[in-house]
Amino acid sequence: MKILFLGDVMGRAGRRAITENLPRLRETWALDFVVVNGENATSGMGLSGAHAKVLLDAGADCVTLGDHAFDQKDMLQFIEHEPRVIRPLNFSKASPGKGSRLFTTKNGRKVLVMQALGQVFMKRPFDDPFSAVEPVFKTHPLGGQADAIVVDFHCEATSEKMAMGHWCDGRASLVVGTHTHVPTADAMILPGGTAHLSDAGMCGDYNSVIGMEKHEPLRRFITGMPKDRFTPATGEATLSGVYIETDDQTGKATRIEMVRQGGRLQQCGP
Ligand SMILES: [Fe+2]
Ligand SMILES: [Fe+2]
Repeated sequence: MKILFLGDVMGRAGRRAITENLPRLRETWALDFVVVNGENATSGMGLSGAHAKVLLDAGADCVTLGDHAFDQKDMLQFIEHEPRVIRPLNFSKASPGKGSRLFTTKNGRKVLVMQALGQVFMKRPFDDPFSAVEPVFKTHPLGGQADAIVVDFHCEATSEKMAMGHWCDGRASLVVGTHTHVPTADAMILPGGTAHLSDAGMCGDYNSVIGMEKHEPLRRFITGMPKDRFTPATGEATLSGVYIETDDQTGKATRIEMVRQGGRLQQCGP
């Protein structure tokens, strides 16, 4: 299977890059399944139902969230009626929606997507993500119930992300980090056959501070004092993420390529 994962869509610039490019990439790269992290697609803070529809209509089969999952209040209701949107497994126990789902592609293949939140350097304490993924692997073994498994691990620290990659090695097709908005350069297939990238980066304008218009973040770093609100940068976005191919029998990864299309970053793709 050919699977594309795109990192955090940031504001209008990120949404525009998705709507203008994803339909073409889906076709050109003959993608079987596309996962898009949408946690910052609405004004950089959360995802509204209307913007979730925009990402799904552009070609995302699944939209994942993150620590900003419910910053847009209408997502609390929207996620109950739209099973293609996934929130973290270890979000608050009272939160609506699901942390994993088994999808069926047009060709009848089964793709399991799950998301977990890390604990290191995160603003709120979340439950242990390493034990959170266990029951999902048990009920949906790779090469059994699931033809491919994608784990979106949403956290700050590269150490925690690499640890999760190794924890899932041999049990997932792909473990990819999100949340930092800056792509890492460590795309690899781990010894057990799981593709790993510590962070997918964001789909947003990189002439910014992690997607926000740069003047206010710079002021806060330099003076220590806030003056204005953060607003998403509006220049041309780079689509940033990772492409994998999986073995049809085992579900393990046979190829991994970093993806950066458009905008300011050095370009790459399959
Ligand atoms: Fe994010
Ligand atoms: Fe986040």
